[in-house]
Amino acid sequence: MTATAAPTKTILRALAGEVQAVPPVWMMRQAGRYLPEYRATRAQAGDFLSLCYNPELAAEVTLQPIRRYGFDASILFADILLLPQALGADLWFVTGEGPRLSTLSDAEGVAALKPTEAIHETLSPVYETVKILARELPREVTLIGFAGAPWTVATYMIAGRGTPDQGPAHAMKAAEPEAFDALMARLTEATTEYLSAQVEAGAEVVKIFDSWAGSLKGADFTRYALEPAQQIIAALKARLPDLPIIAFPRQAGDQYIGFARATGADCVAIDNSVDADWAAKHVQVDGCVQGNLAPHHLVEGGPALVAETKRIVKAFSKGPHIFNLGHGITPEADPENVHRMLEAIRG
Ligand code: CP3
Repeated sequence: MTATAAPTKTILRALAGEVQAVPPVWMMRQAGRYLPEYRATRAQAGDFLSLCYNPELAAEVTLQPIRRYGFDASILFADILLLPQALGADLWFVTGEGPRLSTLSDAEGVAALKPTEAIHETLSPVYETVKILARELPREVTLIGFAGAPWTVATYMIAGRGTPDQGPAHAMKAAEPEAFDALMARLTEATTEYLSAQVEAGAEVVKIFDSWAGSLKGADFTRYALEPAQQIIAALKARLPDLPIIAFPRQAGDQYIGFARATGADCVAIDNSVDADWAAKHVQVDGCVQGNLAPHHLVEGGPALVAETKRIVKAFSKGPHIFNLGHGITPEADPENVHRMLEAIRG
């Protein structure tokens, strides 16, 4: 295949701007606790982090939803918080609660982080997972690698946990602006190297998750969500010109408009707080969009799931679209509802 040959995989075609009669589909957190086979493999690994760092088992859980549902894409099984751990933060998960990390609040904390070159030592099992998947995935399935965006990762590193309003990160940004900017610069560089290494190992697309972008307003959004994404994408594209990149500035609202153009992303993932018709008009004009079914429909099912799925497919039918949820599928979701969603998309 030459560099200019048109892609054949449905996800790559959508990312190249092709409008398809049936949109390709995958789901955020498609390997997760709603699946009994995921829970069994996680138990075999011992805990969530041991699963992330066990290439054979991480590849196994990545493949489980592909076998069960035949999604068009597979997302590497890992977590955005492995990168802070590779930079030297302590990381652990409290069952039923979520992640915990050592905290960081000043220039000393930033200076104590490991150099970027050191991340690969901790993250090499992740690259090994990618290599296994590149070998074992069905040939029509696209392999997506990912990382957290600098702002979102910083919110966890600063607070040591998930926070409802990202207060500690906003506080450090105000009180220690130089240290905060140094942290963002370190994360921007390390994220670029991490994603590059995933592509070298076999990832075909990468996605940048900025789950807390919505708490950045106005000039802060530009400086801490848009600009880091732009820098990471520019650096990746300089090395890997054909690499398609999905950006997910979750809850960006009006700031979704022009985000792809400004950052160079090939696709913008859209959460479920914005309406599909609005997004088709204002965001899809710039290229491929991904999203935006509300995850609760996969818990509730019924006619609303089918109607909403069809409404989203129709709203985005005139441009390039990858069907997905607006955020990750939840542990309470009924696996049978995923079949119903796929039936509504594929007929
Ligand atoms: O999407 C996928 O299936 C790929 C794997 C993936 C996971 N986390 C696995 C996971 C991806 C892409 C992530 C990204 C991630 N991790 C984000 C960004 C996307 C988002 O959801 O906003 C964030 C903020 C994290 C950090 C994180 N990891 C939190 C806050 C939690 C606890 C909340 C929860 O859902 O349990 C996790 C744990 C986590 N990451 C689980 C999975 C499957 C559940 C852990 C378990 O099995 O016990």
